[in-house]
Amino acid sequence: MGEQRMEEDRILATEVSFHYPEEERNAVDQVSMRVKRGEFLAILGHNGSGKSTLAKLFNALYVPDSGTVLVCGMDTVNDELVFDIRQNAGMVFQNPDNQIVATIVEEDVAFGLENNGVPPAEIRTRIDEALRIVNMSEYAQKAPHMLSGGQKQRVAIAGVLAMKPKVIILDEATAMLDPSGREEVMNTVHRLNREEGISIVIITHYMSEAATADYLVVMDHGKIHMTGTPRKVFADVENVRGLGLDVPPMTGLAHDLREAGIDVRPDVLTVEEMVEEVCRLSLKN
Ligand SMILES: Nc1ncnc2c1ncn2[C@@H]1O[C@H](COP(=O)(O)OP(=O)(O)OP(=O)(O)O)[C@@H](O)[C@H]1O
Ligand SMILES: [Mg+2]
Repeated sequence: MGEQRMEEDRILATEVSFHYPEEERNAVDQVSMRVKRGEFLAILGHNGSGKSTLAKLFNALYVPDSGTVLVCGMDTVNDELVFDIRQNAGMVFQNPDNQIVATIVEEDVAFGLENNGVPPAEIRTRIDEALRIVNMSEYAQKAPHMLSGGQKQRVAIAGVLAMKPKVIILDEATAMLDPSGREEVMNTVHRLNREEGISIVIITHYMSEAATADYLVVMDHGKIHMTGTPRKVFADVENVRGLGLDVPPMTGLAHDLREAGIDVRPDVLTVEEMVEEVCRLSLKN
């Protein structure tokens, strides 16, 4: 049973704490959570709540002061496993320009592979496949600086994908993008999750993005404050707002309507669901 659980958990954090030397309190404080195989999880929390620190603990960029982080069963405290851990848990960051290292798209995707001694023929196959999956094949020979922000992030995702990860962690990867770029990136990660079976962890300030996850983890002051499906978490509007966060627009509207005495479901997430509720109510009256 224990072993089977490990197989199912891409990331398993148990009572993890971490502090920066210059800070008094823990940036991550006694956090326990898991990212299951095939899961799409979102981490929310206001600025400074510890999300990025937690992401770095998931990728062995940091090791816990106490507690353990297992990535596909591998303990991040073990130096010898760092390469395997980073290959299994890829990271995509906020600024696309800081992640691109080469002057041609396909060379950028190849970068991690070359550094890790993957044979040239295999590199070719992996680049082609990764670019195909993120829909950037036709840009393989282009200069990255000519691309839009959304395209650059898809190249960054391809670079991670080429390493054949089991989980990809995206730390505000859409924050610097325009709405269409955000949509491109979100569609891409959902497709990776659905079609390639890769577990996804997104850290985001966009509640509409969080609403598309299977599961939410809400942080505050380094601790986990709420967990559950987006439907369950966001329906607790007061609590979410109390943590300095917003709820998706339609959940907020449902809340306001209920305050005004209109009996809509409190856990509406999307425009479609709101339309359904309004139709149901007008039929009733
Ligand atoms: N490199 C660092 N050195 C010192 N303290 C840091 C460092 N990075 C983060 N911190 C502190 O750790 C705490 C958690 O920061 P973290 O960046 O993990 O939060 P976050 O939830 O990602 O915030 P944001 O939404 O602004 O990205 C904050 O108090 C922050 O000031
Ligand atoms: Mg952050």
